[in-house]
Amino acid sequence: MAAPKTTTWCLEPHTRAKHEILRRYLEAWTPILSLGGSKHLIYVDGFAGPGRYDGGEEGSPLIALKAALAHRDRIEATVSFLFIERDVERARMLEAVVAEVERPSNFPIKVAAGKQFEEAFGELLGRGQQLPPTFAFIDPFGWTGIPFSLVKRILSFPRCEVLVNFMYEEINRFLGHADQHDNLDKLFGCQDWRKLTAIQGPAQRRAAIHGLYQRQLGTAAKYVRSFEMRNDKDVTDYFLFFATNSPKGIAKMKEAMWKVDESGEFRFSDATNPTQGLLFSQKPDFDALRRLIVTRFAGKETTVAGVEDFVLAETPYRETHYKKQMLAMLEREGKMSPVNPPAGRKAGTYAEPTMRLRFVP
Ligand SMILES: C[S@@+](CC[C@H](N)C(=O)[O-])C[C@H]1O[C@@H](n2cnc3c(N)ncnc32)[C@H](O)[C@@H]1O
Repeated sequence: MAAPKTTTWCLEPHTRAKHEILRRYLEAWTPILSLGGSKHLIYVDGFAGPGRYDGGEEGSPLIALKAALAHRDRIEATVSFLFIERDVERARMLEAVVAEVERPSNFPIKVAAGKQFEEAFGELLGRGQQLPPTFAFIDPFGWTGIPFSLVKRILSFPRCEVLVNFMYEEINRFLGHADQHDNLDKLFGCQDWRKLTAIQGPAQRRAAIHGLYQRQLGTAAKYVRSFEMRNDKDVTDYFLFFATNSPKGIAKMKEAMWKVDESGEFRFSDATNPTQGLLFSQKPDFDALRRLIVTRFAGKETTVAGVEDFVLAETPYRETHYKKQMLAMLEREGKMSPVNPPAGRKAGTYAEPTMRLRFVP
């Protein structure tokens, strides 16, 4: 979709899927951090929009606010909301939209009206202190204005995470444009994208561009996952990239992504979902998970926690998948056996993270 000129615009199905992921994740994020002892949390919507769509549907600032409000009685932390919106008309509308929401005093809101993400976030960082646990949603129409140096800086603070809308289709189009080199250097935080311009096959090129951004995020965060959004022609429009250093964070984000695409392919297409149907009903491919685990650990010893970390960090699967379905099956088949099971352990249970497991070669 070309960037709209009007203050509001029409909500597309893939945006609804994006919002569903955001909402599900934030409903978990706020209570986890607050109940975990954090006294101050910050939610930054770097490209906030006007707050509502043409049909009155909620935009990301309202979704985030309501996800936190759902747990208001349990949340003692101050949850500060910073909504950055460059377009003044949209920012004014957003101010009016959020003003209608009744909220407690520990949920302060600031709309940075007429400011750019880079500038307003820079001001937040410029105050010099450590950033408190922060979730930054970076959701531009285009692909400029989100320098990798800033994304990396956010991720350098403990318990800070980003969800970035990586506008693949446009980035791919502009990759060969001589006047975009500086912008592309900033976006990727390196010059390696130059090597990708010669790749002709669309699938290879897509994998390489996606892979480069994933690699770059991986230099700043231990866990990186993406979700593909396809347009009404079933062509990749953008990838939502999530990056975090928190195992709980990645587990919760995967849970959110699995809810939107239960096949585990983490893909949503406007072409196959022309209406509001969000959930795919395909089953997870457990054979693929099994192959991944067996290949990774064949002939090796690791712990239950080691398998979990592998599943979380390097596969799209959830921690529930590998424990309930996979380890028990591999043990039954004699492909893996516990080395130091605790006394009285029941076969097929893996409650002890330090229990060692030996995989057959
Ligand atoms: C894709 S829309 C955001 C939609 C919103 N996140 C949602 O999900 O409801 C992008 C918004 O960013 C604003 N924008 C564009 N460039 C910006 C920048 N550099 N900094 C902040 N906002 C910007 C646009 O005016 C537009 O409202």
